[in-house]
Amino acid sequence: MNQEIDWANLSFGYMPTDYNVRCTYKDGKWGEIEVSQDPYINVHIAATGIHYGQEIFEGLKAFRGKDGKVRIFRLDENAKRLQSSARGIMMEPVPVELFTEMVKKVVKLNERFVPPYGSGASLYIRPVEFGISAQVGVKPAKEYVFIIFVTPVGPYFKTGFNPSNICIMRKYDRVAPQGTGRWKVGGNYAASLEAGEKAHELGYSAVLYLDPKEKKYLDECGPANFFAIKDGKYITPASDSILPSITNKSLQQLARDMGIEVEPRHITVDELADITEAAACGTAAVASPVGEIHDLDTGEKYVISKDGKPGPITTALYNELRAIQNGDVEDKHGWITIVE
Ligand code: PLP
Ligand code: COI
Repeated sequence: MNQEIDWANLSFGYMPTDYNVRCTYKDGKWGEIEVSQDPYINVHIAATGIHYGQEIFEGLKAFRGKDGKVRIFRLDENAKRLQSSARGIMMEPVPVELFTEMVKKVVKLNERFVPPYGSGASLYIRPVEFGISAQVGVKPAKEYVFIIFVTPVGPYFKTGFNPSNICIMRKYDRVAPQGTGRWKVGGNYAASLEAGEKAHELGYSAVLYLDPKEKKYLDECGPANFFAIKDGKYITPASDSILPSITNKSLQQLARDMGIEVEPRHITVDELADITEAAACGTAAVASPVGEIHDLDTGEKYVISKDGKPGPITTALYNELRAIQNGDVEDKHGWITIVE
């Protein structure tokens, strides 16, 4: 364990750790897993990943339990989503077994960076894959590298589990209607930077994007999905232009377990007037409660949290999710991989 790290006050940032792991796809096959202490990579100047954005990534977390064990949350789902992203932009999918072995290995190698139980922090695991063939024509690479690094992190939104405000700005889209929104493609994040910075300048924690085709329905919330509670039901946007969030899927299951009805469907902006709770959800965001939603085009202000506190259902879902991740309650759905 690292005595010098202030675990309870970590932000969501990069901190160097001991090792990263790498694997290269060449001549039609994946090679051996390499363990590296070098945080840099040597890439060809004509690599497709650099020129044509053939780049995808993932984000998952490891947690230390009261029993000292290290638990990784929904590793298999992240492995499958990376494959879906790879197919989406014509990259070589990383086999699930290789992904699993590399995630376990990099966590084990950096075990001293897994924050202690009770600190509220976790070890963020960042797999990334990109095309490395030297090409100038716009076509898929023949060679790929897959790298995983880890870094200890605290809350993504500065407010942690306290409500923050988000905004709607119709002039920005992060993806096209039938574009790459359902995949975890780096370009989606580049496309979101201007809107994100604008929102931060105006004091909002994130942008609540609308569907890029009609600008009528809610889509997602910066680097996270969006859910709300309306008439006691868990409602969440169903859309082809959002990332299928593993956290959202998990919260939906926990809501059902609590007897709460779940409705993935189109949600119109007007419906915001009738919701009693809302949150941004994702690996980094966990479930970050929303206080107010300001529509900067119409001037409408939707006050979701009347008392400035997270709502009861959001709180119950958050606590249950965290309890499973920390190993405080039984892992009924088989979501946890223990690092041996
Ligand atoms: N939506 C976007 C755009 C994201 O970047 C993320 C983060 O991964 C999510 C949603 C949440 O997905 P997950 O819960 O799988 O982390
Ligand atoms: C995650 O939640 O893992 C994400 O990928 C969000 C990230 C872009 C900060």
